[in-house]
Amino acid sequence: MLIKKPADIKPSEITPESVYRNRREFMAAGTRLMLGAAVAGALPSIANAQDGDRLKARAPTTMSRSAPAPWWQEKFADIKPAPDSAPFYTGETLTPYRDVTRYNNFYEFGMDKSDPSSNSGEFKADPWSVEISGEVAKPGTYHLEDILKPHALEERIYRLRCVEAWSMVIPWIGFPLADLIKRFEPTSKAKYVEFETIIDRDAMPGIRSRFAIVDWPYREGLRMDEAMNPLTLMVVGLYGNYLPPQNGAPMRLIVPWKYGFKSIKSIVRINFRETKPHTTWNDLQANEYGFYANVNPAVHHPRWRQDKERRLPQTLFSRQYMDTRLFNGYGEQVASMYEGLDLMRNF
Ligand code: MTE
Repeated sequence: MLIKKPADIKPSEITPESVYRNRREFMAAGTRLMLGAAVAGALPSIANAQDGDRLKARAPTTMSRSAPAPWWQEKFADIKPAPDSAPFYTGETLTPYRDVTRYNNFYEFGMDKSDPSSNSGEFKADPWSVEISGEVAKPGTYHLEDILKPHALEERIYRLRCVEAWSMVIPWIGFPLADLIKRFEPTSKAKYVEFETIIDRDAMPGIRSRFAIVDWPYREGLRMDEAMNPLTLMVVGLYGNYLPPQNGAPMRLIVPWKYGFKSIKSIVRINFRETKPHTTWNDLQANEYGFYANVNPAVHHPRWRQDKERRLPQTLFSRQYMDTRLFNGYGEQVASMYEGLDLMRNF
């Protein structure tokens, strides 16, 4: 984001209109299809998905490779479909699976939009553990299976707005971050939550690169009330299936009213703090990337105006521009958290 010009999609990445399906078409066409993409590069089929068949959106058919661990399959066999009403759902046209999984920002795999999908073949997201530390009664290093065990998965269809002024609509699979946080019993000193991404030099060429601009690990943070907001989602899948590596397998954050860079991927550490944490983009260029990073059409980035956004996918002949809304359209749910805060200064 720092050194690139507004990202234009290369012609090779453009999805034909025919692939672009709305949610109803997906329901009709997708329910019986075998599922693709997966944790750890394994592409499973969840043939016995029951409730999952009522999901609003399914990944299109892809090849099937070895199955992931049985506990993953069990979790994904029972996903609560998105409701039909906001804020956990939007009727806007879904961004096709192909674009969601091939047009990515994940600098650990490289800086081009196609790098994460092209360069993540060696990445293994299983086994995986997450360190819980800081101001909590129950710190420790937990296997991902134990982190996820008590949480029922649900589908949520959110807008994702990147600070680079493109946006998507994505059917995520996850559970409220608040429910996870409560289990570790934060102390009264826990005012912020800090997240860190894995550093995997062997599987992440962006980390080995001499041109890397990030001081790894990638770090992000939220105020405690933001972390506890019902919209904030711990995500383990999209389009009814496991997260592919390029989208942050096995577990990432989604904070839909903030610019995408707050939604940190492949999380290995969650740390509870009394003081505001350092965060990757804010550390790199504080005058361009604020800690809050709330979507705000009135506060422009030096390289990207923020009052309009380009909804993906686009074709050679049509670019869909739309007005960007304050808090990415989720103001009713989140604006009260920022009452009295000057959003022009605290961007
Ligand atoms: N997380 C890590 N670890 N590394 C990254 O480079 N990029 C961020 C965010 N999370 C990033 C990250 C940015 S800039 C955006 S816009 C979103 O991921 C993109 O998520 P997506 O690729 O799933 O659309």
